[in-house]
Amino acid sequence: MGEALGVYVAAMDYPPGTEAHRAPMWAEHALRPGWAAVAAIDAGTLVGIGYGYRSARGQWWSEEVRTGLLALGRPAGETEQVLADTFELTELHVHPAAQGDGLGSRLLLSLLEGRPEGRVLLSTPEVDAEGNRAWRLYRRTGFGDVLRHFRFTGDPRPFAVLGRSLPLG
Ligand SMILES: CC(C)(COP(=O)(O)OP(=O)(O)OC[C@H]1O[C@@H](n2cnc3c(N)ncnc32)[C@H](O)[C@@H]1OP(=O)(O)O)[C@@H](O)C(=O)NCCC(=O)NCCS
Repeated sequence: MGEALGVYVAAMDYPPGTEAHRAPMWAEHALRPGWAAVAAIDAGTLVGIGYGYRSARGQWWSEEVRTGLLALGRPAGETEQVLADTFELTELHVHPAAQGDGLGSRLLLSLLEGRPEGRVLLSTPEVDAEGNRAWRLYRRTGFGDVLRHFRFTGDPRPFAVLGRSLPLG
């Protein structure tokens, strides 16, 4: 857990101390139904991580997305359909020193391979012209817009929620 959080904080360029705040959350996530994780290890060092779990009523992220879709005027039935049978890709990070070599793509494909759900959803910060590696990776793998410029409760940054059907390819 400590090493994985170190990759996350370095990749996201978050301030030191974020690890301690996140650790209990990640530990709780690991107990959720359908949780799965992948890791990239180079010469004994963890350099990339990804995990997610099945979407469910009452889970914070899923409820936030539900609220966002309903606020857009999407019909309740359609919203339930989007959120049902969904794998939530919660975290995907490659250490900056190991980025740019296809590792993120391989982690994403491994994590999504053989999932029983019919759809995957994730959120990523909005950036100008979708101009970072995360955006390029998600677009390259066929993720489309579900919500744009969305504000999660307690976070002032705008996020995009992206999704696609499963299986990939
Ligand atoms: C997003 C992130 C996980 C992507 O991982 P990555 O390993 O850097 O990126 P990719 O797997 O997409 O590969 C990077 C480059 O290698 C290229 N590539 C893809 N497959 C390849 C392969 N098999 N061999 C060599 N290069 C390859 C891609 O063209 C890509 O180039 P591009 O980004 O200029 O389009 C990583 O950059 C990261 O941790 N970023 C910061 C944190 C973050 O934003 N996380 C997501 C939050 S939602």
